[in-house]
Amino acid sequence: MTPRAATRPVGTVTRGTTNPNRLRRMDRWIAAVHGAELRRAQRPVAVDLGYGAAPWTAVELLGRLRTAAPRTAVVGIEIDPARVAAARPYEREGLEFRHGGFEVPLPAPPQLIRAANVLRQYDEDQVAQVWSRLCARLAPAGPHGSRGGLLVEGTCDEIGRRHVWVALGPEGPRTVTFAARLASLDRPSDLAERLPKALIHRNVPGEPVHAFLRDFDRAWAAAAPYASYGARQRWIRAVRDLTADWPVTDGPARWRQGEVTVAWEALAPRGR
Ligand SMILES: C[S@@+](CC[C@H](N)C(=O)[O-])C[C@H]1O[C@@H](n2cnc3c(N)ncnc32)[C@H](O)[C@@H]1O
Repeated sequence: MTPRAATRPVGTVTRGTTNPNRLRRMDRWIAAVHGAELRRAQRPVAVDLGYGAAPWTAVELLGRLRTAAPRTAVVGIEIDPARVAAARPYEREGLEFRHGGFEVPLPAPPQLIRAANVLRQYDEDQVAQVWSRLCARLAPAGPHGSRGGLLVEGTCDEIGRRHVWVALGPEGPRTVTFAARLASLDRPSDLAERLPKALIHRNVPGEPVHAFLRDFDRAWAAAAPYASYGARQRWIRAVRDLTADWPVTDGPARWRQGEVTVAWEALAPRGR
């Protein structure tokens, strides 16, 4: 009998660029909005998919999620076997590394899949298929108000000052979050260069994400007098103005962090 061939991971090895603390904004947001779902699970598992050439983001994800849900375990999954071998010495209680791809090779569906700066190196027309494959791997919605697992897929700059991500549940896309270090932001549309793959090519007139960033810049300009109280007060004022025309789903507690979250349907590319 011939041994069964190992299944090939789904996806492609891409550049492994990463940095310590790069994904802190995303980690904190996940802990805040998904912490209750992680606490509810018997054995909460979070996946850091495509953690890159060093395991920093997976190590940090474990630390930050455990502040919200102490029983959480993190599995770092990488498609490049050499990067898995390099990460193994960092394994510890609650943290392991596995070779794999978009098939997410785990025995049970995870409560979280985080894929940061992974799809950016794929083609735009691959995104929908990857999203539906990953969403199908998430823990399903359940009793007692559980909405199921969360896929967080997005992009940031090298040191994590500018970040945009999409959050998806088992049913599909839910929200888009913009997050920035406000002191280094000239205007909200500076975040356009960090839009996730599904949106970055749609920042053109006629597309909703373009209209959103245009309106955000206008609200930011109108809020200029608040700059004397600091960039945070200006951001909060601008986001409050935006709520008149856009379905902002979060509130001042998140805006204070330099974030705003909007319903996906409002920003989805035309024709989707
Ligand atoms: C630019 S690095 C991002 C590292 C880290 N997530 C960060 O944001 O700092 C992208 C990594 O994703 C990995 N990757 C690409 N496609 C993948 C897939 N289908 N499954 C798992 N890893 C993948 C690449 O091999 C690469 O190491």
